Amino acid sequence: MSPTSSSVTSFTPPPLELPGIGFGTYKLRGADGREAVSGAIELGYRLIDSAYNYENEGTVGAGIRDAVESGAATRSEIIYTSKLPGRYHRRADALATVEESYHRSGIGPIDLYLIHWPNPKQGHYVEAWNALIEARERGLVKHIGVCNFLPAHLEVLEKETGELPEVNQIELHPAFPQVGALEWNAAHGIITQGWSPLGRGAALDSVPVQDAARAHGATAGQVVLAWHRAVGSLAIPKAAGRQRQQENLESLTVELTDDEVTAITALGTPDGRLKGQDPATYEEF
Ligand SMILES: NC(=O)c1ccc[n+]([C@@H]2O[C@H](COP(=O)([O-])OP(=O)(O)OC[C@H]3O[C@@H](n4cnc5c(N)ncnc54)[C@H](OP(=O)(O)O)[C@@H]3O)[C@@H](O)[C@H]2O)c1
Repeated sequence: MSPTSSSVTSFTPPPLELPGIGFGTYKLRGADGREAVSGAIELGYRLIDSAYNYENEGTVGAGIRDAVESGAATRSEIIYTSKLPGRYHRRADALATVEESYHRSGIGPIDLYLIHWPNPKQGHYVEAWNALIEARERGLVKHIGVCNFLPAHLEVLEKETGELPEVNQIELHPAFPQVGALEWNAAHGIITQGWSPLGRGAALDSVPVQDAARAHGATAGQVVLAWHRAVGSLAIPKAAGRQRQQENLESLTVELTDDEVTAITALGTPDGRLKGQDPATYEEF
Protein backbone atom coordinates (compact mmCIF):
# COMPACT_ATOMS: atom_id res chain seq x y z
CA MET A 1 0.00 0.00 0.00
CA SER A 2 1.32 3.41 -0.84
CA PRO A 3 1.00 6.27 1.63
CA THR A 4 -1.85 8.12 0.01
CA SER A 5 -3.57 9.78 2.95
CA SER A 6 -4.73 13.18 1.85
CA SER A 7 -4.10 14.73 5.26
CA VAL A 8 -1.86 17.75 4.71
CA THR A 9 0.61 18.70 7.40
CA SER A 10 3.23 21.43 7.44
CA PHE A 11 6.49 19.70 6.56
CA THR A 12 10.08 20.80 6.21
CA PRO A 13 12.16 18.19 4.37
CA PRO A 14 15.52 17.26 5.89
CA PRO A 15 18.41 18.67 3.86
CA LEU A 16 19.10 16.78 0.65
CA GLU A 17 22.60 15.34 0.74
CA LEU A 18 23.89 14.17 -2.61
CA PRO A 19 27.13 12.43 -3.66
CA GLY A 20 29.67 14.05 -6.00
CA ILE A 21 28.46 12.11 -9.05
CA GLY A 22 25.31 10.28 -10.09
CA PHE A 23 24.36 7.58 -12.57
CA GLY A 24 22.13 8.28 -15.60
CA THR A 25 19.86 5.51 -16.86
CA TYR A 26 18.31 6.84 -20.08
CA LYS A 27 18.15 3.90 -22.52
CA LEU A 28 19.03 1.34 -19.83
CA ARG A 29 16.16 -1.14 -19.88
CA GLY A 30 15.42 -4.83 -19.40
CA ALA A 31 17.86 -7.39 -17.98
CA ASP A 32 20.94 -5.46 -19.18
CA GLY A 33 19.62 -2.27 -17.59
CA ARG A 34 18.88 -4.03 -14.30
CA GLU A 35 22.42 -5.42 -14.23
CA ALA A 36 23.90 -2.04 -15.15
CA VAL A 37 22.07 -0.36 -12.24
CA SER A 38 22.94 -2.99 -9.64
CA GLY A 39 26.52 -3.09 -10.92
CA ALA A 40 26.82 0.70 -10.71
CA ILE A 41 25.67 0.62 -7.08
CA GLU A 42 28.14 -2.19 -6.32
CA LEU A 43 30.90 0.04 -7.72
CA GLY A 44 29.87 2.91 -5.45
CA TYR A 45 27.22 5.03 -7.22
CA ARG A 46 24.51 6.18 -4.82
CA LEU A 47 22.45 8.63 -6.92
CA ILE A 48 20.44 6.90 -9.67
CA ASP A 49 18.55 9.01 -12.21
CA SER A 50 15.45 7.64 -13.94
CA ALA A 51 12.22 9.15 -15.30
CA TYR A 52 8.66 8.06 -16.00
CA ASN A 53 9.34 8.70 -19.69
CA TYR A 54 12.45 6.48 -19.79
CA GLU A 55 10.09 3.52 -19.34
CA ASN A 56 12.61 1.90 -17.04
CA GLU A 57 11.44 2.71 -13.52
CA GLY A 58 10.67 -0.99 -12.99
CA THR A 59 14.08 -2.03 -14.32
CA VAL A 60 15.89 0.56 -12.22
CA GLY A 61 13.90 -0.36 -9.11
CA ALA A 62 14.78 -4.04 -9.66
CA GLY A 63 18.47 -3.13 -10.05
CA ILE A 64 18.35 -1.17 -6.80
CA ARG A 65 16.64 -4.06 -4.99
CA ASP A 66 19.30 -6.48 -6.30
CA ALA A 67 22.07 -4.22 -5.02
CA VAL A 68 20.44 -3.86 -1.61
CA GLU A 69 19.85 -7.62 -1.36
CA SER A 70 23.49 -8.30 -2.24
CA GLY A 71 24.59 -6.00 0.58
CA ALA A 72 26.25 -3.47 -1.77
CA ALA A 73 24.32 -0.61 -0.15
CA THR A 74 21.39 -0.05 2.14
CA ARG A 75 18.20 1.36 0.64
CA SER A 76 18.60 4.50 2.73
CA GLU A 77 22.02 5.20 1.19
CA ILE A 78 20.57 5.34 -2.32
CA ILE A 79 18.97 8.44 -3.81
CA TYR A 80 16.52 7.20 -6.44
CA THR A 81 15.27 9.94 -8.77
CA SER A 82 12.31 9.93 -11.17
CA LYS A 83 10.54 12.64 -13.17
CA LEU A 84 7.05 13.84 -14.04
CA PRO A 85 6.33 14.00 -17.80
CA GLY A 86 4.98 17.17 -19.43
CA ARG A 87 1.67 15.53 -20.36
CA TYR A 88 0.81 15.07 -16.68
CA HIS A 89 1.15 18.56 -15.20
CA ARG A 90 -2.49 18.89 -14.08
CA ARG A 91 -2.93 18.09 -10.37
CA ALA A 92 -4.88 14.81 -10.60
CA ASP A 93 -2.71 13.48 -13.42
CA ALA A 94 0.48 14.49 -11.62
CA LEU A 95 -0.49 12.78 -8.37
CA ALA A 96 -1.59 9.62 -10.19
CA THR A 97 1.70 9.62 -12.11
CA VAL A 98 3.79 9.94 -8.96
CA GLU A 99 1.85 7.01 -7.50
CA GLU A 100 2.45 5.04 -10.69
CA SER A 101 6.20 5.80 -10.46
CA TYR A 102 6.09 4.70 -6.82
CA HIS A 103 4.53 1.35 -7.72
CA ARG A 104 6.70 0.80 -10.80
CA SER A 105 9.96 1.23 -8.92
CA GLY A 106 8.69 -0.77 -5.93
CA ILE A 107 11.34 0.49 -3.52
CA GLY A 108 9.25 2.70 -1.25
CA PRO A 109 9.10 6.49 -1.25
CA ILE A 110 10.96 8.06 -4.16
CA ASP A 111 13.93 10.01 -2.84
CA LEU A 112 13.81 12.79 -5.42
CA TYR A 113 11.04 13.59 -7.89
CA LEU A 114 11.52 16.24 -10.58
CA ILE A 115 9.26 18.02 -13.08
CA HIS A 116 10.89 16.87 -16.35
CA TRP A 117 10.28 20.02 -18.46
CA PRO A 118 8.50 23.31 -17.67
CA ASN A 119 6.55 23.35 -20.97
CA PRO A 120 5.80 27.08 -20.57
CA LYS A 121 3.47 27.25 -23.59
CA GLN A 122 1.26 24.67 -21.93
CA GLY A 123 1.49 26.79 -18.77
CA HIS A 124 0.71 24.28 -16.02
CA TYR A 125 4.07 23.91 -14.30
CA VAL A 126 2.92 25.75 -11.14
CA GLU A 127 0.05 23.26 -10.82
CA ALA A 128 2.56 20.42 -11.29
CA TRP A 129 4.80 21.93 -8.60
CA ASN A 130 1.92 22.17 -6.14
CA ALA A 131 1.12 18.52 -6.90
CA LEU A 132 4.70 17.50 -6.09
CA ILE A 133 4.48 19.42 -2.82
CA GLU A 134 1.29 17.45 -2.09
CA ALA A 135 2.96 14.16 -3.08
CA ARG A 136 5.72 14.92 -0.59
CA GLU A 137 3.16 15.69 2.10
CA ARG A 138 1.54 12.34 1.39
CA GLY A 139 4.88 10.55 1.80
CA LEU A 140 5.13 9.32 -1.80
CA VAL A 141 8.35 11.27 -2.41
CA LYS A 142 10.95 12.70 -0.05
CA HIS A 143 12.46 15.58 -2.00
CA ILE A 144 11.23 17.53 -5.02
CA GLY A 145 12.83 19.52 -7.77
CA VAL A 146 12.72 20.37 -11.45
CA CYS A 147 14.63 19.92 -14.68
CA ASN A 148 15.22 22.41 -17.45
CA PHE A 149 13.73 25.38 -15.57
CA LEU A 150 15.08 28.81 -16.51
CA PRO A 151 15.41 31.48 -13.78
CA ALA A 152 12.17 33.06 -15.06
CA HIS A 153 10.28 29.81 -14.42
CA LEU A 154 11.86 29.41 -10.99
CA GLU A 155 10.86 32.94 -10.03
CA VAL A 156 7.25 32.10 -10.92
CA LEU A 157 7.38 28.99 -8.70
CA GLU A 158 8.67 30.98 -5.77
CA LYS A 159 6.14 33.78 -6.26
CA GLU A 160 3.16 31.43 -6.66
CA THR A 161 4.02 28.74 -4.09
CA GLY A 162 6.66 30.22 -1.78
CA GLU A 163 8.91 27.22 -2.42
CA LEU A 164 11.89 26.80 -4.74
CA PRO A 165 13.07 23.36 -5.90
CA GLU A 166 15.96 21.67 -4.13
CA VAL A 167 17.42 20.54 -7.48
CA ASN A 168 17.39 21.89 -11.04
CA GLN A 169 18.68 19.30 -13.53
CA ILE A 170 19.78 21.02 -16.74
CA GLU A 171 21.68 20.29 -19.94
CA LEU A 172 25.28 21.05 -19.05
CA HIS A 173 28.56 20.02 -20.72
CA PRO A 174 31.62 21.84 -22.09
CA ALA A 175 29.85 22.91 -25.32
CA PHE A 176 27.04 24.40 -23.19
CA PRO A 177 28.44 25.26 -19.76
CA GLN A 178 25.43 27.20 -18.45
CA VAL A 179 27.52 29.59 -16.33
CA GLY A 180 24.59 31.95 -15.68
CA ALA A 181 22.23 29.15 -14.65
CA LEU A 182 24.83 27.67 -12.30
CA GLU A 183 25.26 31.04 -10.63
CA TRP A 184 21.50 31.67 -10.37
CA ASN A 185 20.81 28.23 -8.90
CA ALA A 186 23.67 28.50 -6.40
CA ALA A 187 22.58 31.97 -5.30
CA HIS A 188 19.11 30.56 -4.56
CA GLY A 189 20.27 27.42 -2.72
CA ILE A 190 19.36 25.11 -5.61
CA ILE A 191 21.62 22.15 -6.46
CA THR A 192 22.46 22.02 -10.18
CA GLN A 193 22.63 18.57 -11.75
CA GLY A 194 24.14 18.33 -15.24
CA TRP A 195 22.42 16.09 -17.78
CA SER A 196 24.27 14.74 -20.81
CA PRO A 197 27.38 15.71 -18.83
CA LEU A 198 29.70 14.14 -21.40
CA GLY A 199 27.80 15.81 -24.22
CA ARG A 200 26.95 12.22 -25.17
CA GLY A 201 30.64 11.82 -25.99
CA ALA A 202 30.96 15.01 -28.04
CA ALA A 203 32.97 16.88 -25.40
CA LEU A 204 35.85 14.45 -25.23
CA ASP A 205 38.08 15.27 -28.22
CA SER A 206 38.69 18.99 -27.65
CA VAL A 207 42.22 20.30 -27.10
CA PRO A 208 41.74 21.57 -23.49
CA VAL A 209 40.16 18.28 -22.42
CA GLN A 210 42.89 16.21 -24.09
CA ASP A 211 45.64 18.44 -22.62
CA ALA A 212 44.22 18.08 -19.12
CA ALA A 213 43.85 14.32 -19.58
CA ARG A 214 47.56 14.04 -20.42
CA ALA A 215 48.54 16.30 -17.52
CA HIS A 216 46.58 14.27 -14.96
CA GLY A 217 47.06 10.79 -16.41
CA ALA A 218 43.26 10.66 -16.66
CA THR A 219 40.82 9.82 -19.45
CA ALA A 220 38.97 12.55 -21.35
CA GLY A 221 35.71 11.43 -19.70
CA GLN A 222 37.24 11.79 -16.25
CA VAL A 223 38.47 15.30 -17.10
CA VAL A 224 35.02 16.42 -18.23
CA LEU A 225 33.42 14.98 -15.10
CA ALA A 226 36.07 16.64 -12.90
CA TRP A 227 35.27 19.90 -14.70
CA HIS A 228 31.60 19.49 -13.69
CA ARG A 229 32.61 19.17 -10.04
CA ALA A 230 34.85 22.22 -10.31
CA VAL A 231 32.09 24.43 -11.73
CA GLY A 232 29.45 23.21 -9.24
CA SER A 233 27.51 20.81 -11.47
CA LEU A 234 26.56 17.37 -10.16
CA ALA A 235 27.09 15.19 -13.24
CA ILE A 236 24.92 12.14 -13.89
CA PRO A 237 26.76 10.28 -16.69
CA LYS A 238 25.19 7.19 -18.21
CA ALA A 239 27.42 4.23 -19.00
CA ALA A 240 26.09 0.80 -19.89
CA GLY A 241 29.25 -1.16 -19.09
CA ARG A 242 31.24 -1.67 -15.92
CA GLN A 243 34.51 -0.31 -17.28
CA ARG A 244 33.14 3.15 -18.10
CA GLN A 245 31.04 3.18 -14.94
CA GLN A 246 34.23 2.66 -12.96
CA GLU A 247 36.16 5.17 -15.07
CA ASN A 248 33.51 7.82 -14.51
CA LEU A 249 33.30 7.17 -10.77
CA GLU A 250 37.06 7.53 -10.47
CA SER A 251 36.80 11.06 -11.89
CA LEU A 252 36.17 11.98 -8.23
CA THR A 253 39.94 11.72 -7.69
CA VAL A 254 40.84 14.16 -10.50
CA GLU A 255 41.34 17.80 -9.45
CA LEU A 256 41.74 20.26 -12.34
CA THR A 257 43.65 23.53 -12.09
CA ASP A 258 41.78 26.82 -12.38
CA ASP A 259 43.36 27.38 -15.81
CA GLU A 260 42.18 23.99 -17.05
CA VAL A 261 38.65 24.68 -15.79
CA THR A 262 38.64 28.08 -17.51
CA ALA A 263 39.90 26.62 -20.81
CA ILE A 264 37.21 23.91 -20.83
CA THR A 265 34.45 26.39 -19.94
CA ALA A 266 35.64 28.56 -22.86
CA LEU A 267 34.61 25.77 -25.28
CA GLY A 268 31.00 26.78 -24.68
CA THR A 269 28.88 28.61 -27.23
CA PRO A 270 25.38 30.12 -26.88
CA ASP A 271 23.97 27.51 -29.29
CA GLY A 272 25.95 24.62 -27.82
CA ARG A 273 22.89 22.60 -26.82
CA LEU A 274 23.02 19.07 -28.25
CA LYS A 275 19.56 19.26 -29.84
CA GLY A 276 18.57 22.90 -29.53
CA GLN A 277 16.13 22.16 -26.71
CA ASP A 278 15.68 25.67 -25.29
CA PRO A 279 13.26 25.37 -22.32
CA ALA A 280 11.82 28.81 -23.16
CA THR A 281 10.16 27.30 -26.24
CA TYR A 282 10.83 23.56 -26.40
CA GLU A 283 8.16 21.31 -24.95
CA GLU A 284 8.35 17.64 -24.13
CA PHE A 285 5.40 15.53 -23.18
N1 LIG B 1 16.29 15.95 -17.31
C1 LIG B 1 16.43 15.81 -18.61
O1 LIG B 1 15.74 16.46 -19.41
C2 LIG B 1 17.46 14.85 -19.13
C3 LIG B 1 17.77 14.82 -20.50
C4 LIG B 1 18.74 13.94 -20.94
C5 LIG B 1 19.38 13.09 -20.05
N2 LIG B 1 19.05 13.10 -18.72
C6 LIG B 1 19.73 12.21 -17.74
O2 LIG B 1 21.12 12.41 -17.84
C7 LIG B 1 21.78 11.17 -18.03
C8 LIG B 1 23.08 11.34 -18.78
O3 LIG B 1 22.87 11.95 -20.04
P1 LIG B 1 23.02 11.15 -21.43
O4 LIG B 1 22.82 9.71 -21.20
O5 LIG B 1 22.15 11.86 -22.40
O6 LIG B 1 24.50 11.49 -21.90
P2 LIG B 1 25.99 11.37 -21.30
O7 LIG B 1 25.98 10.77 -19.95
O8 LIG B 1 26.64 12.68 -21.52
O9 LIG B 1 26.66 10.37 -22.33
C9 LIG B 1 26.32 9.02 -22.38
C10 LIG B 1 27.06 8.42 -23.58
O10 LIG B 1 28.48 8.54 -23.36
C11 LIG B 1 29.06 7.24 -23.31
N3 LIG B 1 30.05 7.26 -22.22
C12 LIG B 1 29.84 7.10 -20.89
N4 LIG B 1 30.98 7.24 -20.21
C13 LIG B 1 31.95 7.47 -21.12
C14 LIG B 1 33.35 7.70 -21.02
N5 LIG B 1 33.98 7.71 -19.85
N6 LIG B 1 34.04 7.92 -22.17
C15 LIG B 1 33.41 7.91 -23.35
N7 LIG B 1 32.09 7.72 -23.52
C16 LIG B 1 31.36 7.50 -22.40
C17 LIG B 1 27.92 6.26 -23.08
O11 LIG B 1 28.17 5.05 -23.74
P3 LIG B 1 27.95 3.61 -23.07
O12 LIG B 1 26.68 3.64 -22.28
O13 LIG B 1 27.90 2.70 -24.24
O14 LIG B 1 29.14 3.40 -22.18
C18 LIG B 1 26.75 6.97 -23.76
O15 LIG B 1 26.76 6.71 -25.15
C19 LIG B 1 20.72 10.34 -18.76
O16 LIG B 1 21.03 8.96 -18.78
C20 LIG B 1 19.50 10.71 -17.98
O17 LIG B 1 19.45 9.99 -16.76
C21 LIG B 1 18.11 13.98 -18.25
